[in-house]
Amino acid sequence: MLAQSQSKDRLIVALDVPSARQARQIVQSIGDAATTFKVGKQLFTAEGPQVVRDLVSSGRKVFLDLKFHDIPNTVAGAVRSAAELGVTMLTVHASGGSKMLKAGADAAAQSAAKPMVLAVTVLTSLSEADLQEIGVPGTVLSQVLRLGALARAAGCGGLVASAHEARELRRELGEGFAIVTPGVRPAGSAAGDQARVVTPRDAIAAGATHLVVGRPILEAPDPAQAAAAIVADIESAVV
Ligand code: C5P
Repeated sequence: MLAQSQSKDRLIVALDVPSARQARQIVQSIGDAATTFKVGKQLFTAEGPQVVRDLVSSGRKVFLDLKFHDIPNTVAGAVRSAAELGVTMLTVHASGGSKMLKAGADAAAQSAAKPMVLAVTVLTSLSEADLQEIGVPGTVLSQVLRLGALARAAGCGGLVASAHEARELRRELGEGFAIVTPGVRPAGSAAGDQARVVTPRDAIAAGATHLVVGRPILEAPDPAQAAAAIVADIESAVV
């Protein structure tokens, strides 16, 4: 059993909305049922860094999901800017290679806020055929494990991975790094466009440390209650 405060920090609510106004409404309706919110490309592109500053100054933690992928110097600069906004977690693409990953991880470690750098391995929208098309041989899983090991060796604090990949990554890479898992659905809820879904409890049992949940909370009649139910399910996980 996990302590309730610990469990709450493991839930990341995805603010997948087009405006700061809608984001504020959701954050308010959730109240203190969640601590951490994901700002992604849609909201950030529409509203800019102020949306992050507002969340941070209201005492929330922010996961900035912009999936940086560029030359090492540019990624290091972007990570420094994210750290200055006060984000807790941010994403980079592992396929940017070791030098880029290390530049990002080092920039985070040298900042005051020291955000956790999470690497995205293979986008879950890509199939084996898609990988072949871009010149990557082998299975999706072998590429996930390869890039996961690379990110870890470069000093990243964790990975973004599906629950299935989480189990394999834990088996191959062991403990001591975060695994952030989307595609989570409370038992009995609609899957939406997620092809493979797991319950919060099962994702934690598979080795995930954090869960990203959007629509099951955003579209719930009572978002605070939906978030609290997910936290309770996380808490019940045997780890
Ligand atoms: O609404 P839902 O719970 O499906 O939202 C999941 C969040 O996680 C979205 O922000 C989505 O972009 C993100 N995500 C995902 N699958 C991945 C990586 C990220 O659903 N493989």
